[in-house]
Amino acid sequence: MNFSSLSEIAKYIVADGKGILAADESNPTCKKRFDSISVESTEENRRDYRELLFTSEGMKKNIGGVILFDETIRQHSDSGKSLVEIIVERGALPGIKVDKGLQPFNGSEIETLTQGLDDLDERCAEYAALGAKFTKWRAVISIGQNIPSQECIDANMEALASYAKTAQKHGMVPIVEPEVLINGEHSIEDCYDATSRSIKSLFDYLDSYDVDISGTILKPNMVTPGLDHAHAATVEEVAEATVKCLNDNVPTELPGIAFLSGGQTEIESTEHLNMMNKIGGFPWKLSFSYGRALQASALSAWLGKKENISAAQDAFSHRAEMNKLASLGKWSHSLEE
Ligand code: 13P
Repeated sequence: MNFSSLSEIAKYIVADGKGILAADESNPTCKKRFDSISVESTEENRRDYRELLFTSEGMKKNIGGVILFDETIRQHSDSGKSLVEIIVERGALPGIKVDKGLQPFNGSEIETLTQGLDDLDERCAEYAALGAKFTKWRAVISIGQNIPSQECIDANMEALASYAKTAQKHGMVPIVEPEVLINGEHSIEDCYDATSRSIKSLFDYLDSYDVDISGTILKPNMVTPGLDHAHAATVEEVAEATVKCLNDNVPTELPGIAFLSGGQTEIESTEHLNMMNKIGGFPWKLSFSYGRALQASALSAWLGKKENISAAQDAFSHRAEMNKLASLGKWSHSLEE
């Protein structure tokens, strides 16, 4: 696939209701997921599992991009094909996580600053040569007593802007991910406030670093109450708060917004996305870039066994299709039965 601009790449990834499969779990995170199904996290098992996802029927038509981890972008299937080739054959673009995880921010016990800028230029050159068409960097913002601090938000958003500039220099679309964590007792209003401050700061820095917004994808959290908050929010409340937050802070030139699932269940993530697209009236595509919410059922169907591969692929394909429908506002509960 040939593209003449960053904007074309970004538009391709979220065209026609398509979304992104986040399969970029670091090895420690992948071990956590595999521990939950009692599968050993070896390099081969990680490859087999990702290959199962990438060769699923549901990749076609529903998935426009796949985010990979450094190990995966270099792996080959037993047939000798690289996993990158397998993704491209399914009509999706390969992308790569380029951040190097979190370090404490200013000695804080909770706040963090995402690392990875030091050798980013060289790493981006290599990833582009390996076929990556887009990249991802995740900043993490926590809600708690007197946090997030504006200093922590700004330091993380400036790093995201600096990263985005470097990715674009190498012809790759940056996915900018300012994740406000769902963990905690906070209210939906607290989440709105932290998300809104983060996204505002992010676009201010993207502007001052002269990042091409038309060749960028935003990967935000939805605006929800914390997991331990006393009252759950309705689907309508989450959808309305999230759309308002985005309308107030995201420029119209941005081609697409692809949400993270962040600890919501598979159905919640689909339902919320669908409701936002039913509300409609915004200038960007509103799509998905889910990790857990695309993989949870597939992982528990697989259990590391060859004889379960096809059931796991069906589970993944179903979620991919449901989320594509949600990106078009055409999903309903009855389709889950
Ligand atoms: P979740 O959808 O599981 O939150 O993962 C998305 C992701 O890529 C987080 O960086």
